[in-house]
Amino acid sequence: MAAKPLALWVLAAVSFFGGVYAQPSPEVQKRISAAIKEAGASNSTNVDYTQFVNVFIGTDNFGDVCPGASVPFGMVKFSTDLTGYAPAGYVVDPTQKIRGLSPLHDSGTGSSLGTYGNFEIMPMLCPGGFNTCNVLLADRERFRKNNTDDAYPGYFSQTLDNDIKMEATSTRRAGLERFTFPKGSGKPYFSLDLSNDLPASFTGGALNIDPELGRITIGGHWGSSFGPGVYSYQAFACYDILDGGKQKLSEYGVWTGMTSELFNAKGLGVTSLNLTRNLIGGVYESGALFSYEDEPTEINIRVGVSFVSVNQACANAESEVGTSSFEAIVAQSQALWNEKLSKIAIDLAGTPANVTEMLYSSLYRASLTPNNATGETQGAFAGTTHPYFDSLYCSWDTFRTFYPLMSLHSPAEFAQIVDNYIDGWRKLGWMPECRANNVPGWTQGGSSADPIVGQFAMLYHNEAAALGIDLDELYEAMLADAEQNPPEWNTLGRQVNVYKQYGFVPYGVLDTQSVGRQTREGSRTLEYAFEDFAVRQVALLLNKTDDVAKYTNRSLFYRNVWDPSVVSDGFKGFAQKRFSNGTFSYTDPIDCSPNDTNQNRECSLQGDNNVGFYESSSWEYSWFAPHDTAHLIDIMGGNDTFVSRLDHFFDAGYYLAGNEPSFQTPIGYHYANHPTKSVDRVREVVFTNFDITPAGLPGNDDQAAMATLLSFHLLGLYPVPSTSQFLVLSPFIPKYTIHNSYLNVSTTVTVNGFDARSVQKMIPTGASAYVKSVTFNGVVSPNRCHFDFYDVFRVGGDLVIEVTADKASVDSCGQGLPESVSTGGFASAR
Ligand SMILES: *[C@@H]1O[C@H](CO)[C@@H](O)[C@H](O)[C@H]1NC(C)=O
Ligand SMILES: *[C@@H]1O[C@H](CO)[C@@H](O)[C@H](O)[C@H]1NC(C)=O
Ligand SMILES: *[C@@H]1O[C@H](CO)[C@@H](O)[C@H](O)[C@H]1NC(C)=O
Ligand SMILES: *[C@@H]1O[C@H](CO)[C@@H](O)[C@H](O)[C@H]1NC(C)=O
Ligand SMILES: *[C@@H]1O[C@H](CO)[C@@H](O)[C@H](O)[C@H]1NC(C)=O
Ligand SMILES: *[C@@H]1O[C@H](CO)[C@@H](O)[C@H](O)[C@H]1NC(C)=O
Ligand SMILES: *[C@@H]1O[C@H](CO)[C@@H](O)[C@H](O)[C@H]1NC(C)=O
Ligand SMILES: *[C@@H]1O[C@H](CO)[C@@H](O)[C@H](O)[C@H]1NC(C)=O
Ligand SMILES: *[C@@H]1O[C@H](CO)[C@@H](O)[C@H](O)[C@H]1NC(C)=O
Ligand SMILES: *[C@@H]1O[C@H](CO)[C@@H](O)[C@H](O)[C@H]1NC(C)=O
Ligand SMILES: *[C@@H]1O[C@H](CO)[C@@H](O)[C@H](O)[C@H]1NC(C)=O
Repeated sequence: MAAKPLALWVLAAVSFFGGVYAQPSPEVQKRISAAIKEAGASNSTNVDYTQFVNVFIGTDNFGDVCPGASVPFGMVKFSTDLTGYAPAGYVVDPTQKIRGLSPLHDSGTGSSLGTYGNFEIMPMLCPGGFNTCNVLLADRERFRKNNTDDAYPGYFSQTLDNDIKMEATSTRRAGLERFTFPKGSGKPYFSLDLSNDLPASFTGGALNIDPELGRITIGGHWGSSFGPGVYSYQAFACYDILDGGKQKLSEYGVWTGMTSELFNAKGLGVTSLNLTRNLIGGVYESGALFSYEDEPTEINIRVGVSFVSVNQACANAESEVGTSSFEAIVAQSQALWNEKLSKIAIDLAGTPANVTEMLYSSLYRASLTPNNATGETQGAFAGTTHPYFDSLYCSWDTFRTFYPLMSLHSPAEFAQIVDNYIDGWRKLGWMPECRANNVPGWTQGGSSADPIVGQFAMLYHNEAAALGIDLDELYEAMLADAEQNPPEWNTLGRQVNVYKQYGFVPYGVLDTQSVGRQTREGSRTLEYAFEDFAVRQVALLLNKTDDVAKYTNRSLFYRNVWDPSVVSDGFKGFAQKRFSNGTFSYTDPIDCSPNDTNQNRECSLQGDNNVGFYESSSWEYSWFAPHDTAHLIDIMGGNDTFVSRLDHFFDAGYYLAGNEPSFQTPIGYHYANHPTKSVDRVREVVFTNFDITPAGLPGNDDQAAMATLLSFHLLGLYPVPSTSQFLVLSPFIPKYTIHNSYLNVSTTVTVNGFDARSVQKMIPTGASAYVKSVTFNGVVSPNRCHFDFYDVFRVGGDLVIEVTADKASVDSCGQGLPESVSTGGFASAR
C-alpha cells in the first residue's frame, strides 16, 4: 500500500530528502561501518550478520519502517510512539514528541493515523506526588534527548529529554522493558494506557491491577488502520511490574481524562477500569498509574500480549520470557536473526560497504513482517489449526518482489504464509488481500493473493504436500477469487462479474449484484488479468486443460483497456478506462504522475479518483503485463519505440521508485533485447532512490516490498511472479551464496570480472558491469537475460556471471528473450 496521497509524496521528497535530521545516534552508523570493515578484513566464516543491519533506514521520508525490537516475523515489535505522522510509532523527526513505549506495531505501512500502538507505557517523574502526574497524552509527551536513539535487531532504546532511558527486547509475543532513571531523580512513576492507540480507535475494554501479584492486565477492542471502520479487533496485554519480587510497588491507581482543562481524574488505590464505547464520539484517555518504593534507578517490566485473552497474554510472557534476563532475550533474538540473515552470504571483503549495509538491512525487513500471530486468532479464524499471520498489507505490494525473494531461500516459511492465505479462503470465502489489525483491509488491485500462492505452486509443487499445502485446495482458493464475485468487493475478491461479461472492468457500469468503490477501472483490469495469469499457471501445473485455455484468454484482457489512439509526449497507445459500450473515457496519461500539474487530484482510494488508475498514472500502469511484454512491445510500436518510450518514462520523471507498478520498468529493456540498458537503469535507480540513511527509501516500505525490490537489484536478479523465471542483471556484489534451507541446496553466484567502480549511479567507461555470459555448473547458457529456478537455485552449484566493459558487444540476450505468453512462452510448468 503506497497509501500516501501522491501529492504528499512529492511534497515529502522535497522537504525531507537530504538527511536534515541527525537521528539516530551517530554511533549507530559508526558501529555498523566498523563491523563491516572488520568482517571484511577478518574473513571469518562465523559472521554476526545482525551487525550490518541499520534498522533506522526508512524511518524518515515517510518510509514508515518500524525500528523496534522484534524477532523474525514477530507479533511484538517494541517501539516508542511519536506525535505527528508516525504510522509505525517511531520517526526520526526531533521536533516530534514521545508519548511512550508500546509492544504492538506494523512496519512499512502508510495508514494515515498509524497502526496499533496499544498498551503504551510512559516513565515519568512527579515531584508533587501521584495526583500531580502528567498522565494524559498531551501533558506527558516529551522530546527525546537528541542524537541518542539506538537500535539493532532485537534491541531498541530511546532516551527522553529528562534523561530517562527506555530499552526493550522481545520474543514472538512478549518481551522485556528496562527503564533507567537518573540518580537522585526521585520516585519513578509509570503511566500505562488502557484506551489509547495510534489511530485513537478504542471501542471498549478493561484494565485490572493486582498489587499483590504485581500484575496489570488490559483487554479491549480497537479499530483497523486500513480497513472499514465497522470492524474491530480484540487485543490483550499482561504487565508484570515487580521483576520477580526485586521491585517494590508504592502507589497505584487508575485515571481517565480528556484534557487537563476539561477533566483529568485520578483514583489512588482504585484497581480497575471497565469502559465501553463512547457513543457521542471521541476516545477518553484512560489507564493505570503506579510508582515504586526506595527510588530505584532501574526498573524492569515484563510484557506479554495476545489476541485471544488476558490469560494467554500472561502465559505468553511466562513461557517465552520467564525469568530470562534482558541480555539473554537480546541474544536469543539475535540468534534468530542470524539464522534468517545468513541465508544470503556475501563476499564481505569485496562488496562496497554501503551495499553490504543496504542488503542486510533489506533482508532484515524482508523477515520482519508479516506478523506471526499463529495461535493468536480471533473472529472467523478463532481456533484455526493453520498458521496465522497478521499485517498482510497489502498483497498488491508484496506479490511482486517480497514473496519471490522468500521463495529463493525459505520455502517452509513461505508455505506457512501460503497456508494462511488459503485459510482466509476457507474461513471467509476469498483469500485475504490487505489484512491489517486482524481484520480485512482495503483491496488495491484485486486478489493479489493469486500470484503469491501461484509463485509457491510453480516453485514448490514437488514439496507442497510435505510442506502442508494441498495444491488442489490452493487451486480451489484461486478459483474462488477468479469466479466468485463477492456482494461487497472492497476488501476481498474482485468485481469479476462485470469483468467477465465485458472483458474489462467498465467505467460507470450498472452492477446489479455487488457493491464496491467503482473507481480504478484501468488498473483493476490490468491487475485482474495478471491474477488470471497466476490461475492459468497453476491450471497448467495441474493439467486442467480447459482452464488453461480459459485463463490464458483472460490473462490477455489487459489488451481490452488499451486505447491505441491516445498520444502523450509523442508516444502512442495507453491503457485507459472504458465505458461498458466500449467507448474509451480519456484520461491524460500524465494525470497522477509526479508531473501532474493538478496537486489536488485524487489518485488513491478516494471516491472521486476518476483517472482510472490506482496510485499511478496511465504512463506508469501502461507497462504492466509482466506475463506478456512481447505483445506490449508490439502495441507500443516495436522494439525501438518501446526502448525510447522507456527512456522517456524515466527521463520525464514519470517513474516512481517508491510505487509498486513501477517496480519492473527498469528491467523492461530486457524484453526488447537491450539488457545492458536495464543494467544502466538499475544502477541509476538504486543510487538515486536508496541509501543507508533514515531517508534512504523512496517512500513507504510497504511491508518490505521496497526492501525486497532493492535486494533483487543488488543481487542482479529480477523475478517474474507466478513463474519460475528469473531475469539476470549485473550484481552489485562480486560473490554471494543463497542457501535454501529446505531443499538443502546452496547456489553461489560469482561475478567474473567484477569491478567495484561500476557500483555507482553511472557506470564509468571502462568499468565492467555488462553481462557477457551466464554459466551454470560449467555449462554456458545460450541466453544471458534469464534462467529458470529449476535449472539453477533448485539444483544448486555455481552460477558464474561474466561481465565486460564492452557494452556494445553484449547488448542482446543471445538465444531467446525472456518469455511472454503471446510468443509461446510459459508453455509448460516445470
Ligand atoms: C578469505 O578466505 C578465503 C577462503 O576461506 C580465501 O580464498 C580468500 O583469499 C580470503 N580472503 C582474504 C582477503 O583473506
Ligand atoms: C531536539 O531537536 C529539536 C529540533 O532541533 C528541538 O526542537 C528540540 O528542542 C531538541 N531537544 C532537546 C532535548 O534538545
Ligand atoms: C466489563 O463490564 C461489562 C458489562 O458492562 C462486563 O460484561 C464485562 O465482563 C466487564 N469486563 C471486565 C474485564 O470486568
Ligand atoms: C510462527 O509461529 C509458529 C508458532 O510458534 C511457528 O511454529 C512457526 O514456525 C512460525 N512461523 C514463522 C514463519 O516464523
Ligand atoms: C500433468 O501431466 C504431466 C505430463 O503428462 C505429468 O507428468 C504430471 O504428473 C501431471 N500432473 C498432475 C498434477 O496430474
Ligand atoms: C478470448 O475469448 C473470447 C471469447 O471466446 C474471444 O472472443 C477472444 O478473441 C479471445 N481472446 C484471445 C486473446 O484469445
Ligand atoms: C458510450 O457511453 C458513454 C457514456 O455514457 C457515452 O459518452 C458515449 O457516447 C457512448 N458511446 C457510444 C458509441 O454510444
Ligand atoms: C524485437 O526484437 C526481438 C529480438 O531481436 C525480435 O524477435 C522481435 O520480433 C522484435 N519485435 C518487434 C515487434 O519488432
Ligand atoms: C517532470 O518534472 C520533472 C521535475 O520537475 C522535470 O525534470 C521533467 O522535465 C518534467 N517532465 C516533463 C515531461 O515535463
Ligand atoms: C554511502 O552512503 C552515504 C550515505 O548515503 C553517502 O554519504 C556515501 O557517499 C556513500 N558512500 C559511497 C562510497 O557510495
Ligand atoms: C534437509 O536437511 C534437513 C536436516 O538435515 C533434513 O531434515 C531435511 O529432510 C532435508 N530436506 C530435504 C528436502 O532433503
